[in-house]
Amino acid sequence: MEILTTASELHERLAHGGRIAFVPTMGNLHNGHLQLMRIAREHGDTVVASIFVNRLQFGPNEDFDRYPRTFEADREALKRLGVDVLFAPTEQEMYPTPQVYRVVPPPLAEELEGASRPGFFHGVCTVVLKLFNLVQPDVAVFGKKDRQQLKIVRGMVQQFNLPIRIVPAETVRAEDGLALASRNSYLSLVERQEAPRLYRTLSWVADQILGGRHDYANLEAAARAELAKNGWKVDYIAIRHGLALRIPHPEGYDHPNLLIVLGAAMLGTTRLIDNVDVVQGAHDD
Ligand code: PAF
Repeated sequence: MEILTTASELHERLAHGGRIAFVPTMGNLHNGHLQLMRIAREHGDTVVASIFVNRLQFGPNEDFDRYPRTFEADREALKRLGVDVLFAPTEQEMYPTPQVYRVVPPPLAEELEGASRPGFFHGVCTVVLKLFNLVQPDVAVFGKKDRQQLKIVRGMVQQFNLPIRIVPAETVRAEDGLALASRNSYLSLVERQEAPRLYRTLSWVADQILGGRHDYANLEAAARAELAKNGWKVDYIAIRHGLALRIPHPEGYDHPNLLIVLGAAMLGTTRLIDNVDVVQGAHDD
């Protein structure tokens, strides 16, 4: 595996790379990321991973400084998996001058994650667009755990006519259902035991919808109450239509197969997010 840190090295290396499959990450790789790499391998001759903790997508009171950085372990894991190129630019390489040009994402970016994290998707879209321009992949793999990110990146690719196919990857979960995430490493032992409740609660909502309920506001409120009762501070529980994450029709006109249940909540000082399809695999993200 080659480790490259500059745009010019990358350009030179990828000039004859054939079909390029790309997985952007912020490092602290877990099995979920490794699954994205395996999927990338199915789609490209050259698999490129990037590790870059993108300051632009962190709010002033968020965890940019304490975000887990585990470069050596990440590098070894990628090497073992047979990733061809690891692009690990410095901040100076990515942002040699202050990034005053930014991607303006769609109104969806102000909802859900964006409501709790203003500017988050401006930062994500801006760095993803820059990485896409640097790597020029044919395919890029994004995890469904960050469902809103997946939708927004896909929309950006479509609207800016980027010749890149976005491939979604299923969320990888621990045996108890907790979605794998870098921020899980912040959880204490007790919190780690509590953490799968988010997935269980979202799954309960999905089951209720599948069972015929469409009193969505009640279901969201019940899920919020269940989490709050167990010590969580809930940002949102939201039942949304799978295609553009719009709010479903209150009379239940949307087919339940097309709905997704999304949630974000703080457990102690750790913010966890997750989502489930009411019918797994019913969406082509
Ligand atoms: O999902 C992530 O890890 C980040 O948001 C991404 C896509 C690498 C952009 O920094």
